[in-house]
Amino acid sequence: MTTLEVELADRAYPIHVGEGLLAKSGELLGVKTGQRFVIVTNAIIAAHHVAPLKASLRERGAHVDVVLLPDGEAHKNQKTLDDLLTRMLEARVERSTTLVALGGGVVGDIAGFAAAIYQRGIPFVQIPTTLLAQVDSSVGGKTGINHPLGKNMIGAFWQPRSVLIDIATLATLPERELRAGLAEVIKYGAIRDVEFFAWLETNVQALLAKDRTALMHAIHRSCAIKAEIVAADEREAGERALLNFGHTFGHAIEAAQGYGEWLHGEAVAAGMVCAARLSERASGFDASETQRLVKLIAAAGLPTVPPPINADRWLDLMRRDKKVEAGAMRFVILRRLGEASIRTIDERDAADVVADDAKR
Ligand SMILES: NC(=O)c1ccc[n+]([C@@H]2O[C@H](COP(=O)([O-])OP(=O)(O)OC[C@H]3O[C@@H](n4cnc5c(N)ncnc54)[C@H](O)[C@@H]3O)[C@@H](O)[C@H]2O)c1
Ligand SMILES: [Zn+2]
Repeated sequence: MTTLEVELADRAYPIHVGEGLLAKSGELLGVKTGQRFVIVTNAIIAAHHVAPLKASLRERGAHVDVVLLPDGEAHKNQKTLDDLLTRMLEARVERSTTLVALGGGVVGDIAGFAAAIYQRGIPFVQIPTTLLAQVDSSVGGKTGINHPLGKNMIGAFWQPRSVLIDIATLATLPERELRAGLAEVIKYGAIRDVEFFAWLETNVQALLAKDRTALMHAIHRSCAIKAEIVAADEREAGERALLNFGHTFGHAIEAAQGYGEWLHGEAVAAGMVCAARLSERASGFDASETQRLVKLIAAAGLPTVPPPINADRWLDLMRRDKKVEAGAMRFVILRRLGEASIRTIDERDAADVVADDAKR
């Protein structure tokens, strides 16, 4: 097991990465007799992974309840949140009770938001079970739900007390979800660490085969980069926006296709290629480096070309991006692999990149 720290002064917390951590959760969380926990998860994840977690907490004398949420992004909404809060009130959850989010980003975002607003805030712990959640959504304290008018539009910053990443949970994760998580791993290399990017070029097949040593390294390095960026800019006043590399194009793809058609990681993969091409125009990013990115994304079994979307629609969708400030479009641009910055971009340039892609 390895342990990282998210350095946020009085809200600092550890990220433990290892194999078989569910069965050690009682010890890792320092559980005391009589302490209360509510595990929030869904039926699929519970069937595979809730037993060792529950047993380990109970072994240390904890009182444990489990609440199941409906599965899927379509349920990351007000209704599911309300039902969860109602269950918590019915179970007389107290201020000192710890909520445990066991699942992917959907469970983590809803449970985290419930923890943020229940009685003005109770402690919570992230136990992510998808690769995407392990390298991205469980770290950094962004919580929330979707609104019919926009994804992730209602939420709060609420940091977990601890993140337990048990790579054994990935054994049951469908391959398509594993690949989607790899898109975010590639993103960290592209924006921050060219050596890690090169390591991924060598080890992508091992990761797809769920090799333990490779997974441990990729998850540890990804979390270290995310933790460093979050510690420097918790509320996304600047640097944290670098984590959105490929996401302006990616979110447009997700919205154009209808959410759920393309997984988030798939859309981000094609979006990173668009962003690399935009970087060629905007900062002289070398075309050979775009090719390296394309090759790695393809090797991970992810799409390198966006679906056909007409130019006006692209612009319309990209104008809704959260990074738009006073009407100017802002993108994460690469100077070289491992080095990114935020730049204001003329929307014609962004449109040209996707128009070029349509011709390819
Ligand atoms: N808070 C953040 O910083 C942040 C960052 C990135 C993404 N997100 C959010 O995360 C969500 C996407 O998360 P996701 O990709 O984990 O999707 P998800 O939570 O929907 O999980 C994907 C699927 O895998 C299943 N599953 C999860 N773990 C499993 C396991 N170990 N074995 C078998 N099946 C398993 C789930 O039930 C689900 O059907 C989006 O809502 C996105 O907005 C949040
Ligand atoms: Zn993402």
